[in-house]
Amino acid sequence: MPQVCTPVYKRGTVGKGVLTPLAAKATASSSPPEPTAATAFIAGPSGLACEQVPLARIADEIGTPAYVYSSAAVREQYRILSEAVGNLRHRLHYSVKANSSRAILELLRELGAGLDIVSGGELYRALKAGFKGADVVFSGVGKTEREMEEALAAGVLLFNVESEEELHVLDRVALRLGMRAPVALRVNPEVLVDTPHPYTRTGEKGMKFGIPFDEALAVAATAIALPNIDLLGLDMHVGSQISQFAPYEVGIKRLLHLRTEIERGGKAKLTHLDIGGGLAVTYNAETEVDVGKFGEVIREIVGGTGLNIIIEPGRFLVGNAGVLLTRVLYRKRSGGKQFIITDAGMTELLRPSHYNAFHRIEALVPNGRTTVADVVGPVCESGDFLALDRQVDDAAPGDILAVRSTGAYGFVMASNYNSRPKPPEVLVDGSRFAVVTERESYADLVRGERADLDWRES
Ligand code: LLP
Repeated sequence: MPQVCTPVYKRGTVGKGVLTPLAAKATASSSPPEPTAATAFIAGPSGLACEQVPLARIADEIGTPAYVYSSAAVREQYRILSEAVGNLRHRLHYSVKANSSRAILELLRELGAGLDIVSGGELYRALKAGFKGADVVFSGVGKTEREMEEALAAGVLLFNVESEEELHVLDRVALRLGMRAPVALRVNPEVLVDTPHPYTRTGEKGMKFGIPFDEALAVAATAIALPNIDLLGLDMHVGSQISQFAPYEVGIKRLLHLRTEIERGGKAKLTHLDIGGGLAVTYNAETEVDVGKFGEVIREIVGGTGLNIIIEPGRFLVGNAGVLLTRVLYRKRSGGKQFIITDAGMTELLRPSHYNAFHRIEALVPNGRTTVADVVGPVCESGDFLALDRQVDDAAPGDILAVRSTGAYGFVMASNYNSRPKPPEVLVDGSRFAVVTERESYADLVRGERADLDWRES
C-alpha cells in the first residue's frame, strides 16, 4: 500500500517559484514578489491585470468569453493549506471536479497534491496529467462497473464506497480482475451544515451521499467479510463553501468513534481517514475562513490517531485563482431597469442562475461611473444572468468585464446550450500567459453527430 505523504516544501518557498520550472523562470525575469490569491488580480496601469499580464491584452489576443487563471494564486493557496495542516501525516487530494483543466492538474501535481476523482473521465484526465493511480482517491455515489475496472487497473489508493450495494459490485469486479479493492467507507456523519445554497450540503441526514451513520458499522462488517475488499479507511464530505469548523469537528469525531467500533473485533485495522473538502473562499465581503485555525482544529482531533489524513479541497485551491472575461455587447432598458448584455452567460458560468451565487463583476478599465443593472447573457432563458439588480461599473458596449472568483465550478460546469462553443482557458504565470484549452469551434459542436445513420433492426 503506498504511503500517504506530506508534500515536501520549505516555508516561504512554494509560491516563490522554486518548485516549478515555470515559476522559476517568471521570478528570474521579474522582481516583484509572487502575488497571493487575494492580490493575483489587481488594477495596474493598463487596467485589471492577472499577475503581470493586463487582462485587456488577453481579451484582445484570445477574445471573449475566456477564463483566465493565475498559477501563483493556486500555488499560494496550496501552500497556505499545507502549512495550516502542518506536520500532520496528510496529503491534499485536490478535488478534480472544481477545475479539471490539465494545466491546473499538472501545476498541482508539481506541488505534491494527490487527487479526488468522481468519474472515469476524471481518472483519464488524472493519468493524462501525469498522476499515478496511487495518487488518486475515487469518490462518487454512482460508480459504474466499467469505472471500477479502470480504477482497479490504475491502482487507485482508495475507493470511497457509498453504499452496501456498491461494495458488493466492487467485490465482484475485483474478483473478475483477480485483484483486491482498497476501500474507505464514505459515511454520512449526519451533521448540520450551513452553506450558501442547499445544493452544496452533503453531510446532513437523508441525503443521497454516504452510508447512513447508523448502518455504517454493519456495512463495515460486510466489507471485512467480502473476500476481495480491503477495508482501509473512513471518509466523509460534509458539503461545499463551508466557513464553520463545527461540521468537520463533529463529523470527524463521529468517524473516529466508528473506527474504534470497527477495529474492536480485531478483524480490521484502518489506516486512512478522508475528511473531504469544502473549505470556503471569499466571493464578496464575507469574513475569510481562518485556515490556520482550521488546521489547528483538525490537528487537535486527529493528531494522535496515527491515521493518514486525506483532505479533498477543490474550491479553496482554485476558486479565487480565476476570472471569466466577458465583453459588453449591448445596453438596454426595459420595465424601468437597466440591462448590461454580455457575451458570457449561464452557458459559461452557471453558478449565478443555478445557485443564485454572487460573483463580483468589474470593468477591466473602470470609467468611474456606476449604475444598477442586471448583467445578463445572450442565452434564450430568462434565468440567464451573471448578476441581478447589482451596482456595477457603468460599462458600455465593447468594454470588457471580469467576473471574479470563477476558477472553481466555472468552466467545468459550462455547457453547449444554444449551440454555444465552450470558451478557452488561459493560464498566467508571472509575465507570460498561454492558452491551455482552445476555444471550441462550430465543428466541435457537431463532432460525434452522424450524417449517415446506421439503423439497426430490432
Ligand atoms: N470531495 C467530494 C467528495 C466532493 O463531492 C466535493 C465537491 C469536494 C471534495 C470538493 O469540495 P470543495 O472543496 O470544492 O468545496 N458546483 C458547486 C459545488 C459542488 C461541490 C460538489 N462536491 C458550486 O459551484 O458551488
